[in-house]
This record gives sequence, C-alpha cells and structure tokens, in this order.
Amino acid sequence: DEDPRINGIKTKIRVVPNFPKPGIMFQDITTLLLDREAFKDTIDLFVERYKGKNISVVAGIEARGFIFGPPIALAIGAKFVPLRKPRKLPGEVISEEYILEYGRDCLEMHVGAVEPGERALVVDDLIATGGTLCAAMNLLERVGAEVVECACVIELPDLKVCNFTLSFHSYPLVICT
Ligand code: PRP
Repeated sequence: DEDPRINGIKTKIRVVPNFPKPGIMFQDITTLLLDREAFKDTIDLFVERYKGKNISVVAGIEARGFIFGPPIALAIGAKFVPLRKPRKLPGEVISEEYILEYGRDCLEMHVGAVEPGERALVVDDLIATGGTLCAAMNLLERVGAEVVECACVIELPDLKVCNFTLSFHSYPLVICT
C-alpha cells in the first residue's frame, strides 16, 4: 500500500512538455520545493527508511541530488558527499564515465571523501536510464564503500529502469512517486 503522502508529492511535481528539447517531458521538482509540506514529506519518507541503518555517507548527484541529499544526511546523522560533473572539484578526484543517449558524461568524487567499508546511500531527483546512478554506485564501490541503496524522488517508468538496475547491480531501488 502506498503511503498517503506520496500522492501529495506527485501533484506538486510540474511536468513541462518539450523542455529542454522537443519530445522531452521535463519533471520539474522546483514546484515541489515551493510547497513546504510536500518537500518535508519527501525528505521524511527517505529519513524514515534510512534512519538507524548505519549509513555514514549520503552521496548526492549534481545537480538536484544536492537539494534532496543534504537534509536526508543531516537527519540520519551521515556526512554529505557531492558527486560532481567534470572539472568542478578542486582536489584530487576519481572519475567514472557513463554513456548518455547522445555522447558521454562523467561524475567525479574527491579522493578521501569516503573511506573503505563505509555504508553509502546515493540520492538523486530522478532515474531515467539509470546510467547516472550506475556511475555513482561504481565510484563508491571503487573506493571500497558499500552502496546500501539508491533513493530517487521520480522514476520515468517507460524506460524499465528497475530491470536495468536490478539485473546489472542487484541493488534495491527506492522510488518515491
Ligand atoms: C538528470 C537527472 C539525473 C539524470 C537521470 O540530470 O537529474 O541526474 O538525468 O538520467 P539517467 O537515469 O538516464 O542517467 P541531468 O543530466 O539533467 O543533469 P543536471 O541535473 O546537472 O541538470
């Protein structure tokens, strides 16, 4: 049974057709952030799931994982580590490339931000193909962390994300809306 808060969250996410390109239905979470109750419900749902699970690091994916990740990290008593697009971090980094629909992109993490054996939660706003989350999981595993779960607010269901993610990584995936 679905938590009654989820429908309230769903109604606050604005869908913008043909943005940023024709044919794309853009999921705009800025309207969710404007509603303090729905925003709080979103964070609370994740906090309730991850509190007491011995998670020491929340890794947020640029850019919108930087909005949802830090309040979850503070509430569960974890540190926050940003996974950034290339050439944004000033220190020594490790990088993980991933394939996009057209071309490739890359996520970077500061060396030393996460220690071997740490239990990590990956946070982003949305999963589409799952490529970005996979790159994030690979980064954390390369430094010896254990990825407990990936948490996203929105799943684009037509892309069969769960199959992709589960078959290639066998991580549970939390979808809020
Ligand atoms: C979006 C979204 C996820 C990613 C999901 O980010 O916020 O990070 O795409 O797509 P995938 O599951 O197919 O990998 P975007 O590429 O728009 O970058 P931005 O957040 O920096 O704008």
